[in-house]
Amino acid sequence: MTPPKTAVSDIKDPSLADQGRARIEWALQEMPVLQGLMERFTRERPLKGVRMSGCLHITTETANLARVLAAGGADLVLCASNPLSTQDDVAAALVKYFEIPTYAIRGEDNQSYYRHITAALDHRPVLTMDDGADLVSEMHKQRTDLLVNMIGGTEETTTGVIRLRAMACAGALQFPVVAVNDAMTKHLFDNRYGTGQSTLDGIIRATNILLAGKVFTVVGYGWCGRGVAMRAKGHGAKVCITEVDPVCALEAAMDGYEVRTLLEAAQESDFIVTVTGNKHAVDKQHFKVMKNGCVVANAGHFNVEINIAALDALAVEKDRPRPSVDEYHLADGRRIRLLSEGRLINLAAAEGHPAAVMDMSFANQALCAAFMFNHAGSLENKVHCVPREIDQEVANLKLQAMGISIDRLTAEQQAYLTSWQEGT
Ligand SMILES: NC(=O)c1ccc[n+]([C@@H]2O[C@H](COP(=O)([O-])OP(=O)(O)OC[C@H]3O[C@@H](n4cnc5c(N)ncnc54)[C@H](O)[C@@H]3O)[C@@H](O)[C@H]2O)c1
Repeated sequence: MTPPKTAVSDIKDPSLADQGRARIEWALQEMPVLQGLMERFTRERPLKGVRMSGCLHITTETANLARVLAAGGADLVLCASNPLSTQDDVAAALVKYFEIPTYAIRGEDNQSYYRHITAALDHRPVLTMDDGADLVSEMHKQRTDLLVNMIGGTEETTTGVIRLRAMACAGALQFPVVAVNDAMTKHLFDNRYGTGQSTLDGIIRATNILLAGKVFTVVGYGWCGRGVAMRAKGHGAKVCITEVDPVCALEAAMDGYEVRTLLEAAQESDFIVTVTGNKHAVDKQHFKVMKNGCVVANAGHFNVEINIAALDALAVEKDRPRPSVDEYHLADGRRIRLLSEGRLINLAAAEGHPAAVMDMSFANQALCAAFMFNHAGSLENKVHCVPREIDQEVANLKLQAMGISIDRLTAEQQAYLTSWQEGT
């Protein structure tokens, strides 16, 4: 007899399932687009019998995406896409109430993290859903036997898309992937408003330090950086931006922010937050000049943005005054406070993005999974854009759910916009 799917999961505590289910239902109320898709997927079963593995942050919103995929007929397993982002009650509910095998324990070490990815790959998926490209990358490095049956994958975040494009560029990518992050209805809202609100939430929950009047430096003025800066400004902080891209720096300056080098900004900042997707954006030379008491946090995908080894090497002592704060004491008496070990602060110290933005990101994920399955064998092995129709559909569904109506082009306007003869 086949063992029940729930028997093979690896989660922290099954007794948390009721609490997890209540929070998942709470989040669903803010996800009207996914609710609509759940009904449609139940009716149409667009993923019937499709073996899928998802490597995603195990949060309430992800649980609702998983329910939609399962309603659509997918045979799904999940593992965590970050060791500190798992909500253990959600993992328990996924297993007990939604019968979705889940491999995720908050605080798991690196070995368990990769053991869980291996378990998700042992499911022998034909579709993958990644947040950071770890499933795709591990499959190409360790489990090439699975490549032959792969239909394709979808990718949630900027960093994952960068990794996948690098693979495609090197001719290494062996199946097509859709870059969900690049949908307008994803990065314009999730990266900007989602990361903006939840990063501030994480910093406040971790420190409970007043932001008003403080110097708050945002490293990287991309989609996430714009959101973090906007929300910090709303709290009354004096926001400073550091960039390496001249256009983004110019945009920040014209949005009214002070733009400086990080070496200059570090000397006066009370908070420094990285959102670059890059390695060692905050490095040894910055720690050396940082203001006493500076709070340093990261909201970028991987924990590489802050050079923690360099900070460790400079410190003479380290303690943990609050659960998500490590205070490093330097030889000259200064203290530097690192939040959540440099892992994405919004998921490690708060609950990640609010459900209302994940509603759009995950509607894109669900529709792109169905799109990928419908186009099995016909897409090139490269990183594909989200089809414009899906992006527009998600925007329309969200507007509808928000009770917002918009105007339509008249036939005259449509003709004008597609002609070139008419001038003044
Ligand atoms: N925390 C979350 O929940 C969450 C959500 C979405 C995306 N992300 C992650 O956040 C990161 C940023 O995503 P994005 O969509 O804003 O990317 P983006 O490409 O829009 O922006 C990144 C910006 O950082 C700048 N940058 C790169 N190196 C820098 C450096 N050394 N110093 C200063 N600026 C530098 C780039 O010029 C760019 O403008 C990625 O790792 C992404 O995966 C996290």
